[in-house]
Amino acid sequence: MQGNLLYAQSGGVTAVINATACAVIETARKHKVRVLAARNGIIGALREDLIDTSRETVAAIAALRHTPGGAFGSCRFKLKSLEESRAQYERLIEVFRAHDIRWFLYNGGNDSADTSLKISRIGKALGHEVTVVGVPKTVDNDLAVTDCCPGFGSVAKYTAVSTLEASLDVASMAESSTKVFVMEVMGRHAGWIAAAAGLAGHGADEPPHVILFPEIVFDEAKFLARVKATVERVGWCTVVVSEGVRNADGRFLSEVGTRDAFGHAQLGGVAPMLAQLVKDRLGYKYHWAMPDYLQRSARHVASKTDVEHAYAVGKAGVQYALAGRNAVMPAIVRTSDAPYRWKIEPVPLSKVANHEKKLPKRFISRDGYGITDAARRYLEPLVRGEDAPPYGKDGLPRYVRLKNTSVAKKLPAYAIADK
Ligand code: F6P
Repeated sequence: MQGNLLYAQSGGVTAVINATACAVIETARKHKVRVLAARNGIIGALREDLIDTSRETVAAIAALRHTPGGAFGSCRFKLKSLEESRAQYERLIEVFRAHDIRWFLYNGGNDSADTSLKISRIGKALGHEVTVVGVPKTVDNDLAVTDCCPGFGSVAKYTAVSTLEASLDVASMAESSTKVFVMEVMGRHAGWIAAAAGLAGHGADEPPHVILFPEIVFDEAKFLARVKATVERVGWCTVVVSEGVRNADGRFLSEVGTRDAFGHAQLGGVAPMLAQLVKDRLGYKYHWAMPDYLQRSARHVASKTDVEHAYAVGKAGVQYALAGRNAVMPAIVRTSDAPYRWKIEPVPLSKVANHEKKLPKRFISRDGYGITDAARRYLEPLVRGEDAPPYGKDGLPRYVRLKNTSVAKKLPAYAIADK
């Protein structure tokens, strides 16, 4: 086929986003289409900072499937509206034209779906037709329409496994030392990752004893009473708290004050805050953990289902693009819970862009601190299966670092900050 395909990664990366990259490049190669990658997402496209993936070996591309992080670099960068900054769009199309880019695959969350949608609408108007496909990814699992998002199954598995393991530790120490363990997980506005911690145990006496969801307003007195009752009954208590928990005024408990390019607050630090509250008010010794980037990069404990989803959306993304299906996203459609069955279908990007899928009420237990059977039915298949990376003699995973050879620039330099 005539032309090049441009692939870019966007937003927070995941343990499996490179499995999608692997699928994109392997599928395009089968169709004899060359894949260029934008360095650091859309920023690289604007700067004409492109990578020639045809310079990578078959083995290096295959190894992307088991390598975490974003192999080409990602970004938090919001394209303004066409009215506000036509120049940005003109520049993108200029870069696409200069490098004969006929297909653009943008791998990201809901903000990236919005960016993809905007680009999908302007190519023709600016005289260079390009087929744009949004490819889903986000540990937050908050994209609309798709049943789940690649990246989530692995962070969910990491969270459930860590909750289980750390709880065995606390249980051992509780008689004479630590009585409360608090773990903070990601998920800005939706409690999907926090809910996954619930897979670690069954029933009120098994961990996690308390899950704090962003969907439920934090009630300090009720929380402390619950922790106290659990310690008195079980001997210890594991708390899993989402970074997105808010108080009755709607303010994040963990807001640190900085914001990214999308205006999102940077979160973090609710675990130590709650642990100290427990100590001050109930007197229990505590430990807390904030896995932070560890949770979304933990490829060593990735979910096999998640890796398969990530690969499948990349493959379908290329197939849709080459078939000329503009402004769509490959969505994961669940056709059965048990046995777990799924397929990939195209959905219009307009149905995904800027929507946020929260944890449904029916997934949260009545007391607000746990998950329901319906949540388990949804979550369990997503964490199922192991897909360990190969390990070297040094005992470490054999992750690949690509050469990332730059494509020669053809256009004048472009300073993003000025536009
Ligand atoms: O992309 C999702 C996410 O992992 C959130 O859960 C988290 O709040 C955020 O990204 C962190 O983003 P950054 O890496 O840009 O600080």
